[in-house]
Amino acid sequence: MSTDAIVMLKHDHKEMRAVFAAFEKTGTNALATKGRLVEKMIELLTVHTYIENEVMYPRVRSLLPELEDDVLESYEEHHVADVLVSELYAMSSTDERFTAKTTVLIENVRHHMEEEERDWFPKVREGLGRKILQEIGAEMLQARAKAPKAPVQPSALKKTIDAVIA
Ligand SMILES: [Fe+2]
Ligand SMILES: [Fe+2]
Repeated sequence: MSTDAIVMLKHDHKEMRAVFAAFEKTGTNALATKGRLVEKMIELLTVHTYIENEVMYPRVRSLLPELEDDVLESYEEHHVADVLVSELYAMSSTDERFTAKTTVLIENVRHHMEEEERDWFPKVREGLGRKILQEIGAEMLQARAKAPKAPVQPSALKKTIDAVIA
């Protein structure tokens, strides 16, 4: 498999889009299937966001300062997705808000992936070139091996724990 950072990230995006499409095709009442697909989404998103946050974004930010605004906006979009992911992680597929929250997550992440692929990955490829993208890709492979597969501190769970402790 290629270690080109952008090729790797686009490969993740493709996998994510397939799970999103499967969720949308699942019948309203197929709660077990929906629950499983959301578990898969959470895992894919947690790992992907981790390697972007830990490796890709900081490298791009320091090597291509002119893309700083794009990187900062992307961090904020990751933050919004993190909040939704944490809430979904603590939620049962039988909850009346489960499908609605998943739909909003899908909308947000689709928009974010499109911006990455259309707006800033091409600028990154042009600015960094093949060799540096391969070095970043190799670093991302290492980060992937130690990436969490689920939210480290789900906000909803944390609130529950805080309430119990207080
Ligand atoms: Fe991203
Ligand atoms: Fe991404």
